[in-house]
Amino acid sequence: MDFIKSTLKVKSIERLQGEADASQLRRALTGVDVVLIGTGEIIGAGIFVITGTAAANHAGPAIVLSFVISGFICAFAGLCYSEMAAVVPVSGSAYTFTYATVGELVAWMIGWDLMLEYLMGAAAVAVGWSGYLVKFLHECGVTADENWVKAPWDFTDEEGFKSTGTYINLPAVAIAVAVTTILCLGIRQSAVVNHIAVSIKITVILIFLFATFSYINPANWTPFIPEPHNGKDYGVKGVLRASTMTFFAYIGFDAVATCAQEVKNPARDMPIGILGSLGLCTVLYILVSLNLTGIAPYESLNSASPLADAVANLGMAWLRILISLGAVAGLTSVVLVSLLAQPRIFSAMAHDGLLPAAFARIHPRFKTPILPTLVSGIFCAIAAGLLPINVLGDLTSAGTLFAFFLVSVSVTVLRFTRPDLPRPFRVPLGPFVIPGLGAASALGLIVTTGWATVLRLLVWMALGLIVYFSYGMHHSVLRTGKTPDLGIGLDEKGAGADEKRVVESA
Ligand code: ALA
Repeated sequence: MDFIKSTLKVKSIERLQGEADASQLRRALTGVDVVLIGTGEIIGAGIFVITGTAAANHAGPAIVLSFVISGFICAFAGLCYSEMAAVVPVSGSAYTFTYATVGELVAWMIGWDLMLEYLMGAAAVAVGWSGYLVKFLHECGVTADENWVKAPWDFTDEEGFKSTGTYINLPAVAIAVAVTTILCLGIRQSAVVNHIAVSIKITVILIFLFATFSYINPANWTPFIPEPHNGKDYGVKGVLRASTMTFFAYIGFDAVATCAQEVKNPARDMPIGILGSLGLCTVLYILVSLNLTGIAPYESLNSASPLADAVANLGMAWLRILISLGAVAGLTSVVLVSLLAQPRIFSAMAHDGLLPAAFARIHPRFKTPILPTLVSGIFCAIAAGLLPINVLGDLTSAGTLFAFFLVSVSVTVLRFTRPDLPRPFRVPLGPFVIPGLGAASALGLIVTTGWATVLRLLVWMALGLIVYFSYGMHHSVLRTGKTPDLGIGLDEKGAGADEKRVVESA
């Protein structure tokens, strides 16, 4: 009984607020700043790569509906994140929220689970990056050897894993290594790269929309929801399956919550940032998918660079090159921010004693959390080099959805355990409706990723529990009262927290 009680022990909101107040982070960001930060983190392989595969193999032109469905599911979670970020305006996002509400064990599980979101997410985007780079090089007359630009494993729901006969996806490994190197060397360098990349990708999306509008052929939208054919589902089932894939495109808005400690007015700016970036991206995604399926028959979109290929078929070679460039730059920023966020989560967990203290130390010269950054980069590079984008994307989505589920539950729990807390932003319709819809839809969408992904998620979480019971629970600061040895001259507040802010605010 004592054991269960202790794993459910929560870190008090007051303690979290005290830690936040003691930090040196400046409250400088406005609502508009956070909308842009969110948009920068959200737009990536989801729209540049996965939309094409999802339309071609599952939804057809109804991919637009898939975006609407996954947008709604994100809105439920977005409302829950907004309430939590306004009540607990400290960095750490879902990991911190759950530590303050349902306790250490669940917080550990969410921290462990977030590795799927950030590491697998970065790997998936690195594979998307590789696809666009190969396309871009091809445009320039350089044809890459397939053996070195494709994962040695492919996976389909029907046939499981199959060898492709190739060696490794080398460009995907290369981008993970390059980004990790930049992140190790310093935060300023990372900020400059990120700033340029985000601007380029948003500009390119807008150019795509304007340039292709007049080429839309409404005949490509019929039938809007195709009947099952060629051994593929399509229909309503296909639209739902594609929603899990398009959900990937929205991942990143939750990361806005990690800025809570640095916005001027969290009560107002957190909901604006989270819901605003989500709304903006929903509109952009709906427009891009309408244009894409309007300018090309959906079955032709099953490629690693669907946007570029679709415009090339219209004879706009200049736009094809521009899109490839925009995607390469834009996807770089998503890999960068993901590989920046992950070490930060490791670091927060190490500060709480749940991981070895070395994960919270920062390099005396580069002022970056070298060890967790290297560990994250190595894991990401291996996954990106060996696995196909659909496996990585589904794992990322399942991991993120599980975090959404826990955050939704936390909102309801906190309403009852701490009704006294001031709630500057409240999820509308009471403690059950929206959090309930958020939790149920997140679980429902996890199931649609298929048994293989669910099994991988369960194995991953089981592994996490083994690590917690063999290490974390014995070293937890909250349980033992002992502070971790962070070494001399090391960051007191969580290595990486400040660094992430700098890049995001760039
Ligand atoms: N939303 C991010 C992307 O689409 C993960 O790349």
